[in-house]
Amino acid sequence: MSPDFARAVELLRAGQLVAFPTETVYGLGADAANSEAVARIFAAKGRPADHPLIVHLYGHDAVDRWAAQVPGFAWELMEAFWPGPLTLILKKQAWVSSTVTGGQDTVGLRVPGHPVALELLRRFAADGGPGGIAAPSANRFGRISPTTADHVREELGDRVPLVLDGGPCTVGIESTIVDCSRGAPIILRPGHISAAHLEAVTGIQPQLEAAAGTPRVSGSLEAHYAPQTHMRMVAGERLLDFLNAQEQQGTRCGIIGQSQPPLAGMLHLWRFLSLDPVAFAHDVYAALREMDHAGVDLIVVEAPPDRPEWVAVTDRLRRAAGGSGGA
Ligand code: TXA
Ligand code: MG
Repeated sequence: MSPDFARAVELLRAGQLVAFPTETVYGLGADAANSEAVARIFAAKGRPADHPLIVHLYGHDAVDRWAAQVPGFAWELMEAFWPGPLTLILKKQAWVSSTVTGGQDTVGLRVPGHPVALELLRRFAADGGPGGIAAPSANRFGRISPTTADHVREELGDRVPLVLDGGPCTVGIESTIVDCSRGAPIILRPGHISAAHLEAVTGIQPQLEAAAGTPRVSGSLEAHYAPQTHMRMVAGERLLDFLNAQEQQGTRCGIIGQSQPPLAGMLHLWRFLSLDPVAFAHDVYAALREMDHAGVDLIVVEAPPDRPEWVAVTDRLRRAAGGSGGA
């Protein structure tokens, strides 16, 4: 069945929530120009109100309605990567509500690379309004981001009146976030679009927020992207010893591995993900969710290689492990 765009737009205009697919993860959307509607997002997710949301737009030409003083390198990034998994933090226009920006003087903007999201955004903007849809990932606060419509229903149930189904997300982890409001690009959250990609377009080597000071993204919280089951990341060469020790203690593990073969006779549950970082990212949240449901005592993830192309995936896994049993 094709997505019910007419009903989705009707709900958004009435200040209600609509979940929709993007190429990264599913978003929980509301009219970004309506503060009451945006407040419903925070209520449905159980998310603290000082966490800013990303405003999704149908195209570059909507940027000036939301952002002011857009630097040249930000336009270059939009040209190169939109529609796509890149969010830009820019100085906001004065009218943009602090409900969306978490009280900051900046706004996060993104044109998502998914046909269902783009069609929804295009129709929503068709009345000549500013047309932005504010949307965080469509999970309960602190939990694993949803990459299918079923995950969204599992997370939010009847807290969201409509979930547009666009199939499984192709990228699978959240967009790269680049702060463009402080003179030079600063990566606040790593993602599919890497530092090398950004540098190739702008000629400027982006800084990493970790070096720049206090984290401002909610993804920076320890308890983010977390399964409910405790989780550990273990280096490949220590994995079998670690699992043997767990087995001795009677701990049943769910293993997300890349290199080790399952040990014959072990009670643990194994799931193998690709040695390719793009394919790994595509499957990692569904795998964590599956392990969470399997009733194991501990989720063990074999640590990915320490190489630049694994930075985004490792970031999410590290946070998931840090946030075990968290918010
Ligand atoms: O791929 C994605 O980015 C997905 C899809 C739905 O677009 N969205 C997503 O939203 O991951 P969310 O809310 O889960 O994460 C967005 C991050 C938050 O950590 C938020 O703090 C940050 O973007 N953010 C938004 N506006 C910001 C701003 N003005 N300054 C700093 N960080 C901002
Ligand atoms: Mg999120």
